[in-house]
Parts: sequence; structure tokens; C-alpha cells
Amino acid sequence: MTALSAPRGAANARILGLGAYRPARVVPNSEVVEAIDSSDEWIQQRSGIKSRRFASPEETVQMMSVAASRTALERAGLSAAQVDCVVVATISHLLQLPAVAPAIAHELGTEGAAAFDISAACAGFCHGVALAADMVRGGSARHVLVIGVERLTDIVDFSDRGTAFIFADGAGAAVVGPSDEPGVGPVVWGSDGEQFDYIRQREDWRDVIGTDDAPGSGIMPHLTMQGNEVFRWASFAMAKVAQQALDAAGIGVDDLDLFVPHQANMRITDAMARSMKLPEHVRIARDVAEQGNTSAASIPLALDRLVQDGDARSGDTALLVGFGAGLSYAAQVVIVP
Ligand code: COA
Repeated sequence: MTALSAPRGAANARILGLGAYRPARVVPNSEVVEAIDSSDEWIQQRSGIKSRRFASPEETVQMMSVAASRTALERAGLSAAQVDCVVVATISHLLQLPAVAPAIAHELGTEGAAAFDISAACAGFCHGVALAADMVRGGSARHVLVIGVERLTDIVDFSDRGTAFIFADGAGAAVVGPSDEPGVGPVVWGSDGEQFDYIRQREDWRDVIGTDDAPGSGIMPHLTMQGNEVFRWASFAMAKVAQQALDAAGIGVDDLDLFVPHQANMRITDAMARSMKLPEHVRIARDVAEQGNTSAASIPLALDRLVQDGDARSGDTALLVGFGAGLSYAAQVVIVP
């Protein structure tokens, strides 16, 4: 049998640079309450959200991704030509095909980098970081750009009381590349397809279009969520996953500097922090208050805010925990670039 060359990657991988793009338009609770018969007080108490960002027509999935990626590359000291692979985590690129990643790779100026989208909703960014670190270590890419991006305003029903005040738009990006020391801990990930319907697109596209005999609804199939069930699952099961990710990285809560869970809802973040018994010194990401829930974009946006505000420093350990529709989850400890 002819022997094939074995792929050879770097010994370790880490995040080399982070970038974020927040749409310009700030939308306070007062702008969303009327259509759902709610109040600023109710929204803040139940979700911790005070305002969010909504994208303008020009702030497309591609535009926001390119902006966040350019910042991440600049901070990593790399050119687009050095990117071998672009992984885009999103649920709001509204073309069934092709993926948005090749267009982003092209606009950035990569030299034909491999490019594909992944669909793991709010856990998408952590799935992307896990894949990227394995690619760098496995030898299939030296530098991988991981993007989490959403324009959820395109798929939210603003008259739905359970979702209208939660979701928002934005993009975050991270460049993952080779490192002397381990900078991305082992991923702890999984899914629970029994709860497939908890957060989902309301109808199948075929039901929207219909047939000659049975016309479809013709209405954009919006995102729908069983809020109570999701809340319970996230608050209890995800604290265990977070602890497993610490164990897998070989560190304890005392070694942790930053806790950056998916920015779903402040009460979920608080419940996880309580159940993990996080010590006082651990800084907790609370970006949801000003950014809303941006699904795949929420973790890189939240981490970037901690860095920009001076609450996170290069070399800090950060626990990332992504969770959401699927149900899917992924968590890992990373070193802040
Ligand atoms: N504004 C005002 N009142 C509202 C409301 C709204 N938007 N939505 C529901 N209510 C009312 C209900 O009518 C109900 O009133 P009642 O007690 O008089 O019957 C009460 O508030 C409680 O309703 P419920 O649906 O049980 O709300 P909740 O406490 O579960 O809160 C969510 C709703 C959506 C805030 C909560 O379930 C949640 O945060 N879930 C997780 C969502 C999430 O983070 N998802 C993202 C995961 S990726």
C-alpha cells in the first residue's frame, strides 16, 4: 500500500485577534414595547436588556462580517491573504445557497480561502472556534477566520411578545492561528435534538410557498421560541457544561478571569454564575444589556466589549459557553489575545 503524507499542524492554537461590528442604530426598549403591550421595566426585569442595535439596510450580513473581520485581522497583524479558511456561523443569511462565507472571503481579499457557513445558532461561534483550533492543530489551515454574524431583525416577528424584545443584529470575528502555548482549551459540545422545536423557524419554506392546489402562507417564516423551556434548560444544564469545559482545560473557577456566556438573557447568565459559584474576581460579560441577543455574534461581541472597556487583558483566561437552537451547545476556555 502506498503511504500518504500525514497532515502536520501546529502544536497549539490560540485566538490572535478579535473584531466586532455593532450597527449604528441604538433601539431602546421604548421603541419595541408598543407592538407587544410590554414595558421598559418588564423587559429589563425579565431579560436585563435596556437597548439593542438594529441594522440598517446597508448593514448586511456580509458588510458587518467584513467590518468585524478587518478589525480582527488588523489586531492579529495579519493580511487577508494569510487566511486559509473562513468559517461563518449564522442563522440569518437569507439565501439557502450559496453560503455567505465565500463572498466574505472574496471581499476581504483572501486568496481563494476555503469558506463555508455553519448552522449552530447561538452556539455557532464556539463551534467555529473549536473547528478552527482543530484545523490549525491538524494542519488543514494555518490561520482561520471565525465569524459570528446575525441580522435577526429580518426573521423576528415584532408582534411576538416572546421574542420581539430579545433579538438584535451585529457581527464578531476572531482569527485563530498557531501558538507556542495552548490558547484554546478542549471543546465540550453536544446537542439535544429531542428539543428541536424549542427555538425554530416557524414554518418550512415549502409551507410558505405552497403548491397550486394548496397555496402557502406567503409570509416570512419568523423565529419562534418556547421561552420558559429554553430558560430552564439554559439555566441548569449549561452550568454543568461550563464546569466540564473548565475541567477539560485543567483549570478551576479560581483560575478563571472572565466568564463570557452566550448573551441570551441576563437572568440566565446570573443563574449560571450562581450555580458555578464563580468567585468575585471573575468578570462577567453583560453585553446583552446594550446589545440584545445576537445569537452567533453575541460571544465575540461580548468578549470584545470586555477588552475594549479594559475589563479583559491579553493573557486572561475566558470561559466561553454557547447554547441555543437545536438544542446545541459548545463551550471552551480561551486565552484572550
Ligand atoms: N411583556 C410583558 N409581559 C409579558 C411579555 C412581554 N413581552 N411576555 C409575556 N408576558 C407576561 C405573560 O402574559 C405572563 O403574564 P401572566 O403572569 O399575567 O399570565 C407573564 O408575563 C409571564 O409570562 P411567561 O411567558 O411565563 O414569561 P417568562 O417569565 O418566561 O419570560 C422570557 C419570558 C422570554 C423573558 C423568558 O422565558 C426567557 O427569557 N426565556 C429565555 C429566552 C432566551 O434567552 N432565549 C434565547 C436562548 S438562545
